[in-house]
Amino acid sequence: MIGIIGAMPVEIETLVSQMTEKHEERLGTDTFVSGKLFGREAVLAVCGCGKVNAALCAQQMILRYRPEWVLNIGVAGGADPRLRIGDMVIASAAVQHDMDTTPMGDPIGYVSKIGLVEFPCDGALRTRLRRAAEALPEVAVYEGVIATGDQFVNRPEVTARIRETFGAMAVEMEGAAVAHACYTHGVPCGILRSISDGANDDSGMDFAAFTALASRHAQNVVERVLSAAQ
Ligand code: ADE
Repeated sequence: MIGIIGAMPVEIETLVSQMTEKHEERLGTDTFVSGKLFGREAVLAVCGCGKVNAALCAQQMILRYRPEWVLNIGVAGGADPRLRIGDMVIASAAVQHDMDTTPMGDPIGYVSKIGLVEFPCDGALRTRLRRAAEALPEVAVYEGVIATGDQFVNRPEVTARIRETFGAMAVEMEGAAVAHACYTHGVPCGILRSISDGANDDSGMDFAAFTALASRHAQNVVERVLSAAQ
């Protein structure tokens, strides 16, 4: 069983439509759709935007379905100026950019109890994602830190601060929370994001215009990963 989480319906709806032998189950406010996806047992969920929604959904998924790995897919704002809309970023690690207990003496982004700033992403899964993404035409593929926070970032000075503080390539609102839940339960995690906007003044418009296209790119990569020899 593998688990796949998107924040918004558009981020996983192609995969939901490709799933066969579907079974739907509601746990709290999350709906999990399980079945067969390209020959693999899989469970899909839309977690809603933000870190708490994502962490709750990921934890429910892990405890109920015991996936061997969990993948968070969807769109992101580009923080690295090289990124173009539609490009893919595979997380090497994920940070919570709005976690700040520096007045208590901690490093910026430090998550207490866990004792980490950077949540790791699984090396083998990263390699599989990269190989599959690189097969897509006209899409550049990068690996780097993805920064997660409870805000849609559309101010260049905020994007610059997140990039400079964490070495972040892209910003979004769920990845590090999914990685946090996975880390807590010892489940390998992957984060695959396609760029919908530049996390700048144009982001509101670009997000609306390009989210569907960028979401399709990420779902194409999942199809390639699952269809490839195991
Ligand atoms: N997801 C896609 N674009 C984003 C942005 N600019 N900020 C946060 N999350 C995003």
